[in-house]
Amino acid sequence: MQLVPFRKEFAPAMLAGGPHNDEVNRLTGTHKAGTFTLEKIEAYIERVLNDPDRYARAITVDGKYLGEVMLTINEDNRSAGFRIALWDGFGQGYGTAAIEHVLDYAFNERGLHRVDLEVYEFNERAIHVYKKCGFREEGRLRDALLWDGEFHDAIVMSVLSTDNI
Ligand SMILES: CC(C)(COP(=O)(O)OP(=O)(O)OC[C@H]1O[C@@H](n2cnc3c(N)ncnc32)[C@H](O)[C@@H]1OP(=O)(O)O)[C@@H](O)C(=O)NCCC(=O)NCCS
Repeated sequence: MQLVPFRKEFAPAMLAGGPHNDEVNRLTGTHKAGTFTLEKIEAYIERVLNDPDRYARAITVDGKYLGEVMLTINEDNRSAGFRIALWDGFGQGYGTAAIEHVLDYAFNERGLHRVDLEVYEFNERAIHVYKKCGFREEGRLRDALLWDGEFHDAIVMSVLSTDNI
């Protein structure tokens, strides 16, 4: 598994996703996947590449785009929001390795103090991996997601540079 900077050539793979699109859209709460186009994805890549407050890496295996990790950085607070999504290849350690890399970057290279995320309560695999990587639950956004007519809580998790991870 490699973590590489975004490239415009990844746009078709980003648009296509993978064999589990419906599930990944549910796990990430992505309502509007059907409105994405190649042009929109290319513009997104361009925006991310030109934004000094974003740290983004594509997760690739043998050069194939499998997903992405992203920090959205707030320098004033030395904090960042985190997100990750794989489109395929779950359960092979890629997610854990990508999260560990991003936390190392956040705390040791970028000097951040806090990294936080939101995860839906039904996403047990993600919650397990986040805890393993040092994130702790700090609260809940009640009924934050409406999916197929049902409300679900989002769990807020964070890890601090001073936590023992
Ligand atoms: C969440 C995600 C990043 C995890 O990455 P991954 O590469 O699949 O996970 P890893 O292989 O590194 O680790 C999987 C771990 O979860 C555990 N696991 C798998 N399914 C599980 C489940 N249903 N409940 C609890 N733990 C589970 C595995 O046993 C393994 O634990 P271990 O490392 O302690 O042995 C990835 O699965 C993903 O992107 N999923 C789709 C999108 C998504 O959910 N994004 C997060 C939105 S908040």
